[in-house]
Amino acid sequence: MRFRPRFLLLCGTAAAAALTAGVALIGTAEAATTLGASAAQSGRYFGTAVAAGKLGDSTYTGILTREFNMITPENEMKWDATEPSQGRFTFTNGDRIVAQAQSNGSRVRGHNLLWHAQQPSWVAGLSGSALRSAMINHVTQVASHYKGKIYAWDVVNEAFADGGSGGRRDSNLQRTGNDWIEAAFRAAHTADPGAKLCYNDYNTDGVNAKSTGVYNMVADFKARGVPIDCVGFQSHLGTSIPGDYQANLQRFANLGVDVQITELDVAQGGNQANIYATVTKACMAVSRCTGITVWGIRDSDSWRTGENPLLFDASGNKKAAYTSVLNALNAGGGTSGSSPTTPASGGCNASVSLNSWNGGYTASVHVTAGAAAVNGWTVTVTLPSGGAVTGVWNATNSGSTFRNVGYNAQIPAGGSTDFGFQGTGTGPTATPTCRVG
Ligand code: XIL
Repeated sequence: MRFRPRFLLLCGTAAAAALTAGVALIGTAEAATTLGASAAQSGRYFGTAVAAGKLGDSTYTGILTREFNMITPENEMKWDATEPSQGRFTFTNGDRIVAQAQSNGSRVRGHNLLWHAQQPSWVAGLSGSALRSAMINHVTQVASHYKGKIYAWDVVNEAFADGGSGGRRDSNLQRTGNDWIEAAFRAAHTADPGAKLCYNDYNTDGVNAKSTGVYNMVADFKARGVPIDCVGFQSHLGTSIPGDYQANLQRFANLGVDVQITELDVAQGGNQANIYATVTKACMAVSRCTGITVWGIRDSDSWRTGENPLLFDASGNKKAAYTSVLNALNAGGGTSGSSPTTPASGGCNASVSLNSWNGGYTASVHVTAGAAAVNGWTVTVTLPSGGAVTGVWNATNSGSTFRNVGYNAQIPAGGSTDFGFQGTGTGPTATPTCRVG
């Protein structure tokens, strides 16, 4: 049971009747009914790729605004779209998507700064240091334009080779020198220090030579202080899923990066709904899996024409896969940043759920006592740098450390209490810790 209690607010005569009758208002457990709201219960997001050209389609935008709270531009922020001739930048369609997201309180995953595909034709005329300069200028200009508006950037997309080598893919970018990826991450960090910076790839969805190549790069980047925050797993899946999908996410998370499912779509074969559920449960079980993005809304919007790989049919109806994802999100798995654990006897634990918008959030923190009653508790959250806590209720704080107030110091064995806070920037992502006293 991971459903967060929602307290029923009864108004007008119903409330009056209830109160006169002496009926206590009690908390009820309610499952959220949209993908975004269900994911938010555990501090995660649920997103989709969006095409600017479809924003005039009311069925499309209706589902988009109802179900999703993260948007990835499907093509509009790629190099060919944003710098069609060298040094001339066009952000119109990317800006439209950002505006759409902001108007709906959604966040944006920027996709992508560098990739061997969808490059503008002028890039083919460059190599060596001229190409390296053009690449870095591109990263700098695009990340600067969107500074403060992007939750996470796919800084580099698909740089590793398929097959058993575990090495880099040959490309014009790779031929500028093996350090091109870290140079891109450093430039992106300088341009937008608030954005999470991700490496994103496909066929890395289980433990295999390619994903291990990426893993080794991420470990090396972390060891040398290259600014990488997250790894995206595209998860363009067929009719099966690697058995070690969750274990693979977890091994990356253990390196100290967030993991995200960035382009999920699953061929409509026998097992589509099950595979979607397996992916969702895996993300829910990995505390640093911060969210899932599907690569389009309706089957008719998919780049995989004829495979019907998405959650809504061409008419916009929910498919069985939709229900399996929603149920998996509602079944919980703990806050992003924590897995469901039973507090040790005499201890306490805490989970946080976030309501985020561009530039801010409110966090609701649920504090649970273990097998022994608690008298006084302290919860510490990890806040991304650059943000500030601007208000606290039912607790006092010093920075990211929150203490009980008088009336909620005591929690009976197995009982719980709630406090909350509001902040700027993005909210806590790591596991909150709770200690007694
Ligand atoms: C795809 C888009 O969906 C198509 O519209 C476009 O024609 C080609 O690119 N990996 C990625 C995405 O990182 O950017 C790709 O998107 C799908 C594969």
